[in-house]
Amino acid sequence: MKLYNQGATPASVTSPVSFAGLIEKIEILRSTLRWASRLDRPEIEKLLKQATTLRDEVMGLSHKERFVQAAASAETAAGSADEGAPPQQEVERMPRERRQALMERSFIFEGTFGDNPKLLEALEIAEKAAPTDLPVLIDGESGTGKELMAKVIHANGSRTDKPFISVNCGAIPDSLLESELFGHKKGAFTGASNDRRGKFESAHTGTIFLDEIGELPLTGQVKLLRVLEAHEIQRVGSDEIISVDARIVAATNKDLRKMSEAGTFREDLFYRLSVIHVSLPALRERHDEIPLLVSYFSDEAASMLKRAPVRLTPRLRDFLLHYDYPGNIRELRNLMYRLSCLAGDTADLAQLPQDIRPKPALAVVGATASGGTDIAMPTSLSEAKRAASDEAERAFLERGLQEVGGTVAELARRFDMNRSHLQMLLKKHGIHSKDFRASRQADGSKA
Ligand SMILES: Nc1ncnc2c1ncn2[C@@H]1O[C@H](COP(=O)(O)OP(=O)(O)OP(=O)(O)O)[C@@H](O)[C@H]1O
Ligand SMILES: [Mg+2]
Repeated sequence: MKLYNQGATPASVTSPVSFAGLIEKIEILRSTLRWASRLDRPEIEKLLKQATTLRDEVMGLSHKERFVQAAASAETAAGSADEGAPPQQEVERMPRERRQALMERSFIFEGTFGDNPKLLEALEIAEKAAPTDLPVLIDGESGTGKELMAKVIHANGSRTDKPFISVNCGAIPDSLLESELFGHKKGAFTGASNDRRGKFESAHTGTIFLDEIGELPLTGQVKLLRVLEAHEIQRVGSDEIISVDARIVAATNKDLRKMSEAGTFREDLFYRLSVIHVSLPALRERHDEIPLLVSYFSDEAASMLKRAPVRLTPRLRDFLLHYDYPGNIRELRNLMYRLSCLAGDTADLAQLPQDIRPKPALAVVGATASGGTDIAMPTSLSEAKRAASDEAERAFLERGLQEVGGTVAELARRFDMNRSHLQMLLKKHGIHSKDFRASRQADGSKA
């Protein structure tokens, strides 16, 4: 059974959902519940309990199915032994089995999706590190899921019901850093009108997530090192020593080892933070998973926006599969939400953000891995002319509709064209005028 259909229509509409897929969806529900800010703790606990029971029941059914499958494949293997057939594409099935094994050990994915070997390795390390209090350093490019991974570690550990406090070290001005992290005493400095506890105290018994740790100035690094060594803090302006028990997870998109060689990050702090080191792969390293991620986020966006999953024109799908995604999973996720919000039934290149949209004349075959565009070699001059003319026509219509905010009558008036001829041309190119109404509203509301 397959969870995701790699065609244009998301699997939830057309193909049966596997047990693994169901469990994944329940895990997402459990994760959503755990972070639901609108519900009270007892309500969350109650719903979580019910979701856990449901997951265990699905797992039971899944075991049963796998038992039947194993028996069937044992029979097939016995039958084909003479031909020396290899066991069912062992290598290909491995990642899926690794994920399945994590599921069977009740690992909480927090919605982390994908079977890329590097990602699975990161999850397996997270699983082992989670129940300990060892510091974890997560690195990866922007948008690769570092914060999500920090939540995974928190959720799988014994501190799961305790606070998870996130601190963006790059966003705190140097002058406020100490007070933010360790708190202050009333009157400690101008503006300190009350006693205030810092992030470390708030994270007591839970986890503190030090995001963008590479941005922490050297003075802050020294202070952090002291906390890591002594598990004690002092509020600014106070002599009192306060013990804190916070599990530390840090994240960076920088190479801290190189920074410490260059003297911009303390080497001793680097080693303290990176007792367990988790690296997340960039999306370009898991290109083969893009079709699955497109379906996954398209479904997610559809349920969030309470709409049917958006269809993609072949050329948009082609673009999405070959684009370079410098912003990694976050960029892909945001794109799918944008397309789902702006498009009618079907999304096309026109709904892509302007800065990544391929130039109309070059959009014939879509984008290359570098985000640029490629033109397929036409087989004859007349075919080349026809393709160029088609593209010019489409670009003209799209730009025109954009300018008139999707009003076909206005476009016909402006270019002195017959309205029904215009409608026919729009139909020929699969362009929906209402998509341009939505995009104009969205651009307007953003400004
Ligand atoms: N493997 C994954 N499966 C599903 N969603 C993911 C995955 N990785 C990341 N995401 C989603 O992508 C978005 C970005 O993730 P996150 O904020 O954790 O990245 P980050 O590495 O911390 O980014 P930055 O460096 O920009 O802070 C989030 O919406 C997250 O839920
Ligand atoms: Mg982040």
